[in-house]
Amino acid sequence: MGFSLLIRSIFLTLLFSLVQSRSYTSPPNIKLPGDSLTLSVTDFGATGDGINYDTSAIQSTIDACNRHYTSSSSICRVTFPSGNYLTAKLHLRSGVVLDVTESAVILGGPRIEDYPAETSSEWYVVVANNATDVGITGGGAIDGQGSKFVVRFDEKKNVMVSWNQTGACLGDECRPRLVGFVDSRNAEIWNITLREPAYWCLDIVRCENTSVHDVSILGDFNTPNNDGIDIEDSNNTVITRCHIDTGDDAICPKTYTGPLYNLTATDSWIRTKSSAIKLGSASWFDFKGLVFDNITIFESHRGLGMQIRDGGNVSDITFSNINISTRYYDPSWWGRAEPIYITTCPRDSSAKEGSISNLLFVNITINSENGVFLSGSPNGLLSDIKFKNMNITLRRWSNYSAGLVDYRPGCQGLVNHSATTGIIMEHVNGFSVENVNLNWSDDDDLNSAWNVPLQFRPSTVNNVSFVGFNSRLLHKFV
Ligand SMILES: *[C@@H]1O[C@H](CO)[C@@H](O)[C@H](O)[C@H]1NC(C)=O
Ligand SMILES: *[C@@H]1O[C@H](CO)[C@@H](O)[C@H](O)[C@H]1NC(C)=O
Ligand SMILES: *[C@@H]1O[C@H](CO)[C@@H](O)[C@H](O)[C@H]1NC(C)=O
Ligand SMILES: *[C@@H]1O[C@H](CO)[C@@H](O)[C@H](O)[C@H]1NC(C)=O
Ligand SMILES: *[C@@H]1O[C@H](CO)[C@@H](O)[C@H](O)[C@H]1NC(C)=O
Ligand SMILES: *[C@@H]1O[C@H](CO)[C@@H](O)[C@H](O)[C@H]1NC(C)=O
Ligand SMILES: *[C@@H]1O[C@H](CO)[C@@H](O)[C@H](O)[C@H]1NC(C)=O
Ligand SMILES: *[C@@H]1O[C@H](CO)[C@@H](O)[C@H](O)[C@H]1NC(C)=O
Ligand SMILES: *[C@@H]1O[C@H](CO)[C@@H](O)[C@H](O)[C@H]1NC(C)=O
Ligand SMILES: *[C@@H]1O[C@H](CO)[C@@H](O)[C@H](O)[C@H]1NC(C)=O
Ligand SMILES: *[C@@H]1O[C@H](CO)[C@@H](O)[C@H](O)[C@H]1NC(C)=O
Ligand SMILES: *[C@@H]1O[C@H](CO)[C@@H](O)[C@H](O)[C@H]1NC(C)=O
Repeated sequence: MGFSLLIRSIFLTLLFSLVQSRSYTSPPNIKLPGDSLTLSVTDFGATGDGINYDTSAIQSTIDACNRHYTSSSSICRVTFPSGNYLTAKLHLRSGVVLDVTESAVILGGPRIEDYPAETSSEWYVVVANNATDVGITGGGAIDGQGSKFVVRFDEKKNVMVSWNQTGACLGDECRPRLVGFVDSRNAEIWNITLREPAYWCLDIVRCENTSVHDVSILGDFNTPNNDGIDIEDSNNTVITRCHIDTGDDAICPKTYTGPLYNLTATDSWIRTKSSAIKLGSASWFDFKGLVFDNITIFESHRGLGMQIRDGGNVSDITFSNINISTRYYDPSWWGRAEPIYITTCPRDSSAKEGSISNLLFVNITINSENGVFLSGSPNGLLSDIKFKNMNITLRRWSNYSAGLVDYRPGCQGLVNHSATTGIIMEHVNGFSVENVNLNWSDDDDLNSAWNVPLQFRPSTVNNVSFVGFNSRLLHKFV
């Protein structure tokens, strides 16, 4: 079986078993064809000493492998034996799998001259652009040397270097991403550690059929824009068995130039100083058919989020079997420890209002320092939202003041609604709650007593149904 056929069958298996049962957690049967060629970067002159740049040796190996694929249609592996391979930007090409072995590390260059001109918007350590049948695996690591981009370490939020020289990149976000797949098809990233990105870690842009599994993403907890996986304008993406521990949004679908369909993320563990799962804020086109299942979110600033700001519409999204704990870290990061926050509002006066519809939250356990925030806007209502089988436990243990509601970016900003609320609802048409327990504690002395279980704010709140909803005060936590 050819590699692309294999990938397709993995996809079919994953997607098919998803709709059938929960048996998709069995390992996908990934095996590269036995007849593939393997070329070692050391045979092309790479030193792996971590001091000298191995860029041209590695790129020559990739290009030779790609010629093999072009002539034979079979996959070629580029293997990295034990060593540290310092490199400037690399181009991964069709039919090539990078095999970074267990004791090998690809080290991204920290110098501005290691990347193309700022105007190219193509700053990645490794990028596949317009490629088919590509992969990265091997059990080793790709390391962006993110700490070399820190100007001042700060537990609240690191201050980062900016490579803005012309104004072509925005604000303080001018650093290279780690790994990118752009305009590509049939990409598989598995059994690899991606660590210390300077900026976003894994970026999937306008791709079709991407599988990310058994990947560890180890970013820096204090670094802004240290996103885990950003999925933009892409269809048919599967993320499973990943471990993501990072500063900024961990799994972040966005739409800039086209819609995003069919993303599933399952069986993963996440900790982040921002949102564990976040749709947006870039949201110019639609999001449809997303499934998030069996995910643990640990001590994150926010759990499940939508920040729709640019007129794209969101529909048909399921969150199931999710265990969320959220807490405040620092007000300089967006969020106030909301375990679920679903928001749509126009970013600014020129933006459109996107709608959000048909969301299912089922089997959700929440332990958090703040309540749930559901906020549509007058021409972008939240409709057909269902909460089923949820235990929400609210208790404060950090110092930040209660009552502030975070509408950022744009919109109303940070607003003091003064109440400390279990579930806030505004501009909602169709909200069904079934078998949901809301427990709250008054055993803290943080001057932040919970005082409103359900808050219907003045706006459209229509077609609301509560069946088996229990709200109670717990005086003592053990
Ligand atoms: C993606 O996978 C689907 C399902 O296996 C297949 O029909 C489709 O051709 C693939 N797309 C590309 C661009 O290879
Ligand atoms: C993408 O690659 C194909 C060959 O695989 C080529 O024909 C096409 O021109 C490339 N597209 C772009 C935009 O470079
Ligand atoms: C990951 O790679 C290591 C080193 O090559 C290998 O021993 C291990 O079996 C691989 N694990 C998986 C799940 O493929
Ligand atoms: C980026 O660089 C340009 C050109 O030097 C400068 O005009 C602009 O103010 C810089 N922007 C930021 C946010 O630093
Ligand atoms: C994703 O699917 C939509 C709907 O078919 C299509 O408009 C869009 O071009 C697809 N995107 C990619 C990257 O293939
Ligand atoms: C999304 O998945 C559905 C159901 O499997 C399929 O019918 C549809 O064609 C897919 N959409 C895209 C854009 O691939
Ligand atoms: C849920 O995911 C974890 C890995 O995070 C896995 O060990 C466990 O088997 C999965 N549970 C189910 C029911 O699939
Ligand atoms: C979102 O839906 C509205 C109402 O149907 C529609 O006018 C708008 O064009 C949609 N947005 C996009 C990006 O397609
Ligand atoms: C949820 O995760 C916490 C750790 O964050 C763990 O202590 C708890 O047992 C988990 N609860 C469920 C129902 O899985
Ligand atoms: C909620 O708590 C009840 C009672 O402790 C338990 O039976 C149920 O499994 C829990 N459900 C979830 C989704 O945590
Ligand atoms: C929710 O949990 C119940 C009890 O554990 C289980 O029977 C049901 O299949 C789960 N629902 C989903 C959508 O996973
Ligand atoms: C609360 O603030 C005090 C004084 O700023 C600090 O000493 C303490 O560690 C903080 N506690 C928590 C839980 O953040």
